[in-house]
Formats: sequence, structure tokens, C-alpha cells
Amino acid sequence: MFARLWQSSMIALARSGRVTRVMQGSRATAGLRDRYIAAGDHTAGVARAAALWRAHGLRASLFYLGEYVDDPALVDENVAAKRAVVRALGATDLDVHVSVDMTQVGHLLDPDLARRHLDTLAADIRAAADARPGVHALMLDMEDVSVVDATIALHDGLADRGLPVALTLQAYLKRTAADLAAQIRRGARVRLVKGAFVGAPSYAYTRRADVKANSRRLIDAMFGPEARDRGFYPIVATHDDRLIAHARERARADGWVPGTYEFEMLLGVREPLARALAAEGERVRLYVPFGRDWWPYSVRRIGETPANALLLARSLVG
Ligand code: FDA
Repeated sequence: MFARLWQSSMIALARSGRVTRVMQGSRATAGLRDRYIAAGDHTAGVARAAALWRAHGLRASLFYLGEYVDDPALVDENVAAKRAVVRALGATDLDVHVSVDMTQVGHLLDPDLARRHLDTLAADIRAAADARPGVHALMLDMEDVSVVDATIALHDGLADRGLPVALTLQAYLKRTAADLAAQIRRGARVRLVKGAFVGAPSYAYTRRADVKANSRRLIDAMFGPEARDRGFYPIVATHDDRLIAHARERARADGWVPGTYEFEMLLGVREPLARALAAEGERVRLYVPFGRDWWPYSVRRIGETPANALLLARSLVG
């Protein structure tokens, strides 16, 4: 109960434009920024991806910050920044996903504009992957429940045209069992997360234990025989030891070898665990955000566990 209240408060804080302006301009919050955010621009983002790969064998998912954007100039800036990342990746042999939120690329202004931007980004990514031996994909992040249908429809449209695209699904939503079954039938690439949002009991699991139990059921489906037969690619994105152990057990029991599935974690959260898994031969990716607009993202990370209250307090008192 307290954990949900904490998370809702942090989500509200993340959505406040006024708080964002104050916090991003303040030196006192730099510690928070440095914990969760990689770098200022696309060159530094790609350099961080290369460093993670060389030093620890960790792949990256690069995310240019800026969400829930309803200003056309900012949409253009987001798209330009993401295209710059993809161009820079074309000169590397890395395996990098480029993550994108629908509301970054114009969905709030005009869903068709977002579709056109995603088309362009997915085509750029295919061209980058064709240019060098790197492996890249456009990963569609999942935001609040109001954009789930549209995000899935866009993913399916890109996948139907053979573009390198992947989809995030959230275990806190009751509908996800059906959405995942449809993606397994398609042989898609799906990243499963618990969900960084709070929903009503009519459509969402509201207790942490229930979200976790649903995550286990969804992992079972991701590593089931149908998923393997269809060429489905599971991405288990969590820092939860028990879920990671469960996924590894399922993978072993059902004959999935490392490299046919992967784990993904966030920069600044349990990195020693990510390195240990990679050292044991698992394929592991880190979500690496970069860019100016870091407060909403960081404060949502703080909201993920009430234990982070201390981290927030420390950053605010300097
Ligand atoms: P849980 O919150 O139970 O954490 C397990 C343990 O990890 C905690 O006990 C704690 O030790 C540690 N931990 C977790 N979060 C921490 C933090 N922020 N700071 C410090 N320690 C922390 N959500 C969404 O709605 N849409 C999306 O597109 C994505 N995308 C995404 C990509 C990737 C790669 C990840 C890992 C996560 C997301 N998420 C997301 C966020 C996700 O929904 C969820 O909110 C967080 O991953 C936290 O849930 P865990 O499964 O890690 O478990």
C-alpha cells in the first residue's frame, strides 16, 4: 500500500513541468542525475555503449530522454537525436537497441506523426545494421495504459514489413497475458517489465505480490514450447533476483541456450548483478538513458522502491 502511494507520488512529481525545470537547473540534484543517466549527447551515449561492451560484455539499449512531449519543436528534437544515435551506431559493430517512447515522437500531437517518425527510425536502424556487422533494433517502450493499443499496433505494422523492431509489455496489466500470447504467435521480440505505472484494479494488478506472480506466469509463457517453435525472442527486464532465477530455470528446463534470450537492467541499478550474469555466459543488456531532460526519468526510478526515499532526500539536501 505504502509502496503504491510512494510510486504514485513520484509519478506525479515526474509529470510536473515546474518541478522538472527547477530540479534540472539545480546543482543539488546532480548526484541523482549521475546515478541513472549516462551522458549528454548521442556521441557520448554510443561511447558508453562501447565501453560497457568492451569492459563487461554488456550490450546497451540507448534512450534519448524526453517523454510526454506535446511541443512540435521538441518532437523534432527527439527524432533528430534518435536519428543521430542510429547514424553513429552504423559506424560500429555493437549490438544496440534504440529505445523510444511513443509520446516522444509526436503521439500526443497526432498519432500519424508518431507512426511516420517510427517508420523512419526503424528504416534507419535497418540501414545501420546493413552497413556494418552490428545488430540493432528499435525497442518500443511502453507508457501508461492509454497508449498500449496504439503502441502494439505500431509495433505490429513495422514487424509485418520485416523491420527490426521489439515491443515492451508490462506485467501489471491484466491484458498482458493475451497481448503476449499474440506476440508469441508472431515470433516477436518482447521485453517484459513489471510496469512503472499505477493502474486501477479493473484493469491492473495493484499489489506488488500479484504483479510478481503475473510476471512468473508471463515468463513461463515466454519460455514455453510454442515460443521456441515460433522463434520468439524473450527479453526479461528486471532487477528482481527471484524472477531472474525463475527465467534462468525455465530457459534451462526448456532447452533455451544463452543468446536465444536476454536479460535487461537499468543503468545505475544493480550493475554488479548484470556483470555477474554476463560473466556466467548470459546475454545482458543495460538501458542507458542520455540527454538533457533527466528529471522525470530519474524520479520515476526513485519511485520504484520506497527504499530510494533516502537517495532522493540526500540529493535534495546536497
Ligand atoms: P523490483 O522493483 O521489485 O526491484 C527488485 C530489486 O531491484 C529491489 O529490491 C531493489 O533492490 C532493486 N531496484 C529496483 N529498482 C531500483 C531503483 N530504481 N533503484 C535502486 N534499486 C532498485 N516500465 C514501463 O512501464 N515501461 C517500460 O518501457 C519500461 N522499460 C524498462 C526497461 C528496462 C530495461 C527495465 C529494467 C525496466 C523498465 N521499466 C519499464 C521499469 C519496470 O517496469 C519496473 O518499474 C522496474 O524495473 C522495477 O521493477 P523490477 O522488476 O526491477 O523489480
